[in-house]
Amino acid sequence: MNKRAVFFGHGILSAAMLAGVVVACGPSAPPPSTGQNPPASASASTPPPPSSASASASASTSATPPASASTTAKAPPAPMPNVRGSQLSADLQGMGLDPKKLPALNKLEPAKLRKVMNAFTKALGVQCTHCHTDDFKAPTANKKISVRMWNEWVVGLQSEDGSALFCDSCHQGKAKFLDHSDKKALGAWMKTELVQKLKRTDKKDHSCATCHGEDFDGDFLDKWKK
Ligand code: HEC
Ligand code: HEC
Ligand code: HEC
Repeated sequence: MNKRAVFFGHGILSAAMLAGVVVACGPSAPPPSTGQNPPASASASTPPPPSSASASASASTSATPPASASTTAKAPPAPMPNVRGSQLSADLQGMGLDPKKLPALNKLEPAKLRKVMNAFTKALGVQCTHCHTDDFKAPTANKKISVRMWNEWVVGLQSEDGSALFCDSCHQGKAKFLDHSDKKALGAWMKTELVQKLKRTDKKDHSCATCHGEDFDGDFLDKWKK
């Protein structure tokens, strides 16, 4: 009977198959048998071309694509995280800390500071050696950055929605997560995730300048390392 359907409606069927390939990403019901799976290979042969699209967009006329391109045609290697409430609040409370009212890092008692280290490794998805040499007291670039992120961001900023802001709110298990391939998209991400979702504890206006300075410095972390 399948045969018959093919015979009767060959033209219609192939048109329908073509339409299915174009319109649908996959069949609503998978084929029951072990046979080949044409819809899957068909959809695999028509990959979406966002990267080539953005490449040609940026290749045209000027180096900066039109404003709409950054929202529609970006194809980051790994999507940047949406800043969210900390998932380590219970851990911090277990250490006797109020995640919404953390003290400056150098105000922590040694025992608590030592426990906070475990929250750092979780939040960034790293080992102790990411920030420390054999001598835990020795200064390192990542320790210096961490002190400032704690004091100026975790303590100095708050989530607009009232949720607790901690290292993992931004890092989400990764030490590095910014995609620098498209500066315009990165700036747009900074605006929605790091400006609009956050406010300053000191109630002053929060903007790019909070982190980048009035004279926009794109690499300020280099200075924080010193
Ligand atoms: C993301 C960076 C980071 C990670 C990861 C990290 N630490 Fe730390 N550690 C710091 C910072 C920042 C300080 C405080 C430094 C300061 O205030 O001078 C510190 C301080 C310490 C201290 C106190 C040193 C002193 O000056 O008395 C010890 C001990 C320590 N860490 C152990 C660990 C252990 C063990 C781990 C792994 C479980 C770890 N750290 C993971 C950044 C980190
Ligand atoms: C408001 C968002 C935000 C918060 C909160 C935050 N960070 Fe970061 N952090 C960043 C961004 C953005 C970078 C740059 C990442 C990149 O280059 O991909 C960064 C980079 C770093 C780096 C250097 C990158 C590396 O290789 O390790 C360290 C160390 C670090 N953060 C530690 C911390 C620690 C510890 C906390 C909590 C005390 C913290 N951060 C809180 C946003 C944040
Ligand atoms: C909460 C802190 C924070 C805020 C607010 C913030 N940024 Fe950033 N931004 C960072 C960090 C951290 C980096 C990485 C800096 C580094 O690697 O030295 C960065 C990097 C960038 C870069 C890449 C620069 C380069 O040369 O590669 C751009 C572009 C950028 N930010 C734009 C913006 C814009 C535009 C705003 C305001 C809408 C903004 N940022 C607000 C933290 C912030």
